Amino acid sequence: MKNIWQHILQQSRQWCDRPSFWETVPFVVMGLLALTLMVKGCQGICYHGTAEYRIHRLGYPIDQARAIAGVLSAEQAHSLISRGEHDTIAYPIIKQRYFIAKNFDHYLAFHKVDSVASLDDIVTVVNVGDYPDEQKTATHCDTSKGQLMLVNGMHYLDEKYQPDSLEAFERTCCYENQQAIPAVVRAFVAMQRDCKTSTGAQLMVNSAYRSFQDQIAIYKRSDKGYAAHAGRSEHQTGLAIDVTSLQHPMRWPFDASVECAWMHEHCHEYGFILRYPKKQSQLLGYNYEPWHLRYVGVPTSTRIHNEGITFDEYYAYYIDREKQ
Ligand code: DAL
Ligand code: ZN
Repeated sequence: MKNIWQHILQQSRQWCDRPSFWETVPFVVMGLLALTLMVKGCQGICYHGTAEYRIHRLGYPIDQARAIAGVLSAEQAHSLISRGEHDTIAYPIIKQRYFIAKNFDHYLAFHKVDSVASLDDIVTVVNVGDYPDEQKTATHCDTSKGQLMLVNGMHYLDEKYQPDSLEAFERTCCYENQQAIPAVVRAFVAMQRDCKTSTGAQLMVNSAYRSFQDQIAIYKRSDKGYAAHAGRSEHQTGLAIDVTSLQHPMRWPFDASVECAWMHEHCHEYGFILRYPKKQSQLLGYNYEPWHLRYVGVPTSTRIHNEGITFDEYYAYYIDREKQ
């Protein structure tokens, strides 16, 4: 081993002692310098080709361009760059709480047709699919989501759909025979009991499961904005109930009652949400329905309650976000 090192040392000394070695040093240094400059140049050229730089060139500060490029797909970034304009909402929209990357182009398009809508409203309306788009068509409800299935104007159930199992409410819970899925019946009974303890009033189910055919009849006799078309009503899932109370059996007096206020404040503790709150009625077509509860289970109802969002928004953001 020692001999090998001695040999290498000796060879190196001989090589350095040759006059030609020192003549090559300046060339080697210049070569290294040229190489460094080439690498830097390539890096510059490559950076100029990045989405971040090209978005920056549209007029976005570099940090905004980086953030925008960071959330968009290559295709979306390309489309933004090829439009060649600086869109004032592009950066603030990606900072919205419920921003969904795949909806980016729709947010910008929506803002163009409704420039006074707030960013929050733009995100809500686009996320739930309620925006002007000729391509938009209703799709079949994904019933595999079980108690989290979404039924609305854009997600429908077919005529034959029926819940797997239905249970009748006790007569102390409803004015006339009503059925819902068993978890809904149990949750209502617990809520009814606690509401009575707190307010003295007895909550009652007005309407629960409705077949496709039932809904056709209901739609025909309802005021505009209060009933869904057949196939578009979540009553067909067995997960929705319309509630009033023995003390206030009519819907609007019920709305002004202490027990209705109690129900709105506490229903999430039993797995229910108020499905058509005032916010939804302004944005999404149905009127405010203080009586209509939807069962989603306690973890989801708690989250929806805490975040102050509708079920449509919850579904878009937490269940459907990755779907292209
Ligand atoms: N009232 C609600 C919208 C329904 O008919 O399902
Ligand atoms: Zn209802």
